[in-house]
Amino acid sequence: MKVTVFGSGYVGLVTGACLAEVGNDVTCVDIDPKKIEMLNRGEIPIYEPGLEKLVHNNTSAGRLSFTTDIASGVAHGLFQFIAVGTPPDEDGSADLQHVRAVAKNIGEHMDDYRVIIDKSTVPVGTADKVRETVLKTLKERGENVDFDVVSNPEFLKEGAAIDDFMKPDRIVIGTDNPRTTELLRALYTPFNRSHDRLSSWISALLSSPSMLPTQCWQPKSAS
Ligand SMILES: NC(=O)c1ccc[n+]([C@@H]2O[C@H](COP(=O)([O-])OP(=O)(O)OC[C@H]3O[C@@H](n4cnc5c(N)ncnc54)[C@H](O)[C@@H]3O)[C@@H](O)[C@H]2O)c1
Repeated sequence: MKVTVFGSGYVGLVTGACLAEVGNDVTCVDIDPKKIEMLNRGEIPIYEPGLEKLVHNNTSAGRLSFTTDIASGVAHGLFQFIAVGTPPDEDGSADLQHVRAVAKNIGEHMDDYRVIIDKSTVPVGTADKVRETVLKTLKERGENVDFDVVSNPEFLKEGAAIDDFMKPDRIVIGTDNPRTTELLRALYTPFNRSHDRLSSWISALLSSPSMLPTQCWQPKSAS
C-alpha cells in the first residue's frame, strides 16, 4: 500500500521505516531540508536501536524515500500520516500549528480520496480541526474531494520504538467511518500481536463528542 508520512522526526521516521519493512511503499516528507538531505545520504538524525538498519534496508529496497516535496507526498499515499511536532504552547496546551499546516498542505494538493491519519499527540477535537482545515482549503480551490480523518495515537517508547511499533500491545483507531476502519485494519494486519490496556484509550477517545471510535480492536495473533 502507498503511505505518506509528514514529519521525519522520531515518530515519523519510526512509523515510515516500520511500515516500509512490512512491504508498504512509503514516502516521508519533512519541511527541514537539512534533515531530508541527511536521510538521503543514509544518515539518521536520531539514535534509536535498529532504526538505521531498518532505514537502510528499506531505502535500498526502494520501499522508503525522503523528500521536501509536499505535492509529491500528497500525490503518493492513500494513507497520509501526520507525525509532526506538537510542542506545549505558553499555556501548556499542545501547539497545533504544524498539524494544521500539514492539513492545509493536504487540502492544497489532494486530487483523490485520502485517509488522513493523525499520529501526533493532540487534544480531543483535533480531528475536527484537521477536517475543517482540509475542507476550507479544498473549497478555496473550488474542489470537492472525498477524504476521511482518523485518530491513531502513538505509544512508542524511546529506546524500544521499533519493537513497540512492530509488536504493538494496542492499536487505537478513532474514526467515524467504517470504511477507514477496514483500510487501517488492512494496513496494520502485519503488526498483529496481542495487547493490553485497551479500555483506557477507548474511554479517552469516547470523551470526544464528534470523534467516536467505531473500532478499537485487538489484532488477531499472528499464526
Ligand atoms: N518522541 C516520542 O517518543 C513520541 C512518542 C509518542 C508520540 N509522540 C508525538 O508525536 C509527534 C511527533 O513527535 P516527534 O518526537 O517525532 O517530533 P520531532 O520534533 O522529532 O519531529 C517532528 C518533525 O516534523 C517536521 N515538520 C514540522 N512541520 C512540518 C510540516 N508542515 N510538514 C512536514 N514536516 C513537518 C519537523 O521538521 C520535524 O522533523 C508529537 O505530537 C509527539 O508528542 C512522540
